[in-house]
Amino acid sequence: MKNGAGENLADVRIPLVKVPAHPVRLELPGPEKDALKDRIRTMLRQQNAVLVAHYYTDGDLQDLAEETGGCVADSLEMARFGTEHPAQILVVAGVRFMGETSKILNNEKRVLMPDLAATCSLDEGCPIGLFSDFCDRHPDHTVVVYANTSAEVKARSHWVVTSGIALPVVKHLAEKGEKILWGPDRHLGRYVQQLTGVEMILWPGSCVVHEEFKADALIQLRKLHPQAAVLVHPESPQEVVDQADVVGSTTALIQAVQRLPNKEFIVATDAGIFNKMRQLAPDKILLGAPIAGEGATCESCARCPWMEMNTLEKLAIALEAGAGEIEVAPELAAKARIPIQRMLDFAKTLKK
Ligand code: 13P
Ligand code: SF4
Repeated sequence: MKNGAGENLADVRIPLVKVPAHPVRLELPGPEKDALKDRIRTMLRQQNAVLVAHYYTDGDLQDLAEETGGCVADSLEMARFGTEHPAQILVVAGVRFMGETSKILNNEKRVLMPDLAATCSLDEGCPIGLFSDFCDRHPDHTVVVYANTSAEVKARSHWVVTSGIALPVVKHLAEKGEKILWGPDRHLGRYVQQLTGVEMILWPGSCVVHEEFKADALIQLRKLHPQAAVLVHPESPQEVVDQADVVGSTTALIQAVQRLPNKEFIVATDAGIFNKMRQLAPDKILLGAPIAGEGATCESCARCPWMEMNTLEKLAIALEAGAGEIEVAPELAAKARIPIQRMLDFAKTLKK
């Protein structure tokens, strides 16, 4: 049954996601922070470990990952990087599904995370029992799930995609005449559905960070900055996506800041991304898309509370104590690896 926005939303009542409070950040004095970073550098080297960080994590973690030969990336590249790097330990600064994906793809390696409680509202809002029943009710549909899901949900799918590759994968499936069951992000699903015209049933999940961007306030901000290009992550609501000059993954939005001639940019995604944008385009003016205004809540701050759980201190503890290790049962990992590997193999064909 399609709603007013043309979405074919599944009639499923998903669990309410408990969003943690934003942690109070106590900035370490400069010399202490430098000493901590030095300790982490040494441990990474001694343990043959590499740090893989997402663009939304704290700037210090991102910088450290790059300085020490690791990477800062979107979720697709984080998954790929871990498979090609020779390190025996992958330290994933991000959210749990990113650590799990690394473990699934690298069963022989240890995967550590600074905080195992760092989850994601999309993952939490898509429990395997409910999702599997939903799939069972639509056996003629190809199951495509976003990477922001548990290992169990991935194992129940035919394809895993990230925001960077969702569109070409669904186009490819459309060419083969397949009908799609999509989960869990309804906004990314609707965006892909609108661009491909494929028949899709959408799981009604959403990202608590992107859902907070406000379309009316964005109209007002654009009036104040008529020359600014608007960059939007596709987990955002339709009325925000409709105002975008560029819609894409975190990597695509960073590349847009470098590529477009505009001096000013309004950015609708987690504010952690500004660290890399400022590094690569220091002369550009970056404005966060509005989150305040009617309907704003205390969660409206464009910072993912789970990404914020990653800190230098917790990273040091994970390395010192071998804490925060990701475990995925081998049988489950073998099942979940199939749709993830399908995505990585498909990504290689796109590069060619
Ligand atoms: P990207 O794959 O675009 O980095 O997105 C991951 C994510 O969690 C966005 O909220
Ligand atoms: Fe999940 Fe949203 Fe956080 Fe990305 S920003 S990890 S989608 S809650």
